[in-house]
Amino acid sequence: MRRILFVCLGNICRSPTAEGVLRAKAPHLEIDSAGTADWHTGKSPYGPAIEAAALRNYDLKPLRARQVHPRDFHEFDLILAMDENNLADLKQIQPENARAKLCLFLDYAPETGQSAVPDPYYTRDFEGALDLIERASDGLIAAIKA
Ligand code: 4NP
Repeated sequence: MRRILFVCLGNICRSPTAEGVLRAKAPHLEIDSAGTADWHTGKSPYGPAIEAAALRNYDLKPLRARQVHPRDFHEFDLILAMDENNLADLKQIQPENARAKLCLFLDYAPETGQSAVPDPYYTRDFEGALDLIERASDGLIAAIKA
């Protein structure tokens, strides 16, 4: 479990935030993020997401958006969806012989009682999204170590 891909809808808020957080917490892992949509391909993360992450010392500025591709299921060990819609969209493109395990990111934070990271692009709650992402990152690191 070393290569990890985070997936959300736009790849400009939740999944790049998760990428930045896990990169900081676990520099030995290979981490990337992608969106189920191609709307923002090549773009930086959303400004307010960059700013909220920077206040906690996570650097999202170098990241660029891309769309998820079926080949990702062969290149990553673990693909983590931010919500049930992302998970359903990923199942639609999952190859039959996929190598990657596919699940919800918050499966690694059961103590939160939540299954999805609410999209701060709509909720404007960037702090709440960061709180959930930090908790699930810690849970994921513990699960990888175990
Ligand atoms: P994300 O949030 O999936 O967390 O990156 C979104 C960002 C942009 C849009 C939707 C969700 N959008 O509609 O452009």
